[in-house]
Amino acid sequence: MKIGMKTISALACSLCISVGVSANAFADADNSSLVIEGQAIATEVNAPEGSPFDTLYSGWRFRAKETQSLQGDDFENPAFVAVDQASDEFHNVDGSEGKSCADCHDDVSDFKGLRAGLPRWNAKTGKPETMENIINECRTDRMGAKAWKWESTNMLGMTALIGLQSRGSAVNVTTDGPMAEWFERGKKLYYTRVGQLDMSCANCHENNFGTMIRADHLSQGQTNGFPVYRLKWQGLGSIHRRFKGCMKNIRAKPYKRGSDEFIALELYVASRGAGLSVESPAVRN
Ligand code: HEC
Ligand code: HEC
Repeated sequence: MKIGMKTISALACSLCISVGVSANAFADADNSSLVIEGQAIATEVNAPEGSPFDTLYSGWRFRAKETQSLQGDDFENPAFVAVDQASDEFHNVDGSEGKSCADCHDDVSDFKGLRAGLPRWNAKTGKPETMENIINECRTDRMGAKAWKWESTNMLGMTALIGLQSRGSAVNVTTDGPMAEWFERGKKLYYTRVGQLDMSCANCHENNFGTMIRADHLSQGQTNGFPVYRLKWQGLGSIHRRFKGCMKNIRAKPYKRGSDEFIALELYVASRGAGLSVESPAVRN
């Protein structure tokens, strides 16, 4: 049975959780299907074993029609300005070694599939690595160039360009072996209540997805579309920027971009979206 949209404020939301409103009563992803440039994108898949959900939905399914339609056509998708700039940057010589990305990587399409499996284990650093970490490792260790800042135009454009090569690939991160410890750490962060509003990620994205929170239609908080172009930001933003925003909204002190906490959380959240198509770069309000 479907119950109509319910408008709740953040505070009322914690209240409705405490009175035990069940998750699925409100779950109302819309019925649209996403085809981008002729390619069908899986915005709804059966949840994998161990998932708290029956069905996983891409955040795209919770957006307004106008926002959704921007993502169906690369000419309409405002993120492609940054993607085009990154295609140029890929050929730009930088750093003491006098090299461009293209000197070592023939074509950016060689990175097909990569995004779907990130974060992944890096044996050299003994930590999981994100797309940003991988790009900066090439810049500092292989080009003799300066690392790009996490949220810089260059980094966002490059993560969008490389992510785009995996569009349509099913999210599939490794969570066992040396990743297990990081997975557990991310999971703990996800379920820990923080901030003045004393809420966890799960309170909104697991227990209340499908409801309205102020003017926003709550999704499952998936990361398969990142970096995303947000109309509110008028630009691209990273997964960690989004995490920070959510933490600030519940008046919690956010972790830093690139911190171990956010890398662990990124891994855990990615695992919750296993099977959804990569949509990078997606469009959100
Ligand atoms: C001097 C050569 C060199 C340069 C220049 C270089 N890389 Fe790399 N890159 C490598 C090597 C070697 C690896 C690790 C082996 C591999 O996966 O190809 C790598 C790995 C990667 C990977 C992971 C590939 C995968 O499938 O695991 C990405 C993404 C990447 N580089 C992006 C870039 C970008 C973006 C630039 C420019 C900012 C760049 N690289 C510059 C040599 C280079
Ligand atoms: C008070 C409710 C609330 C809490 C708590 C919350 N978020 Fe969110 N989050 C939102 C809203 C609202 C949005 C924008 C609409 C949407 O996609 O759900 C959002 C969006 C997101 C998105 C983007 C989804 C997409 O498809 O673009 C991610 C990822 C996310 N949140 C992760 C988290 C994580 C991780 C935590 C815990 C640190 C968290 N959120 C805590 C309300 C919340």
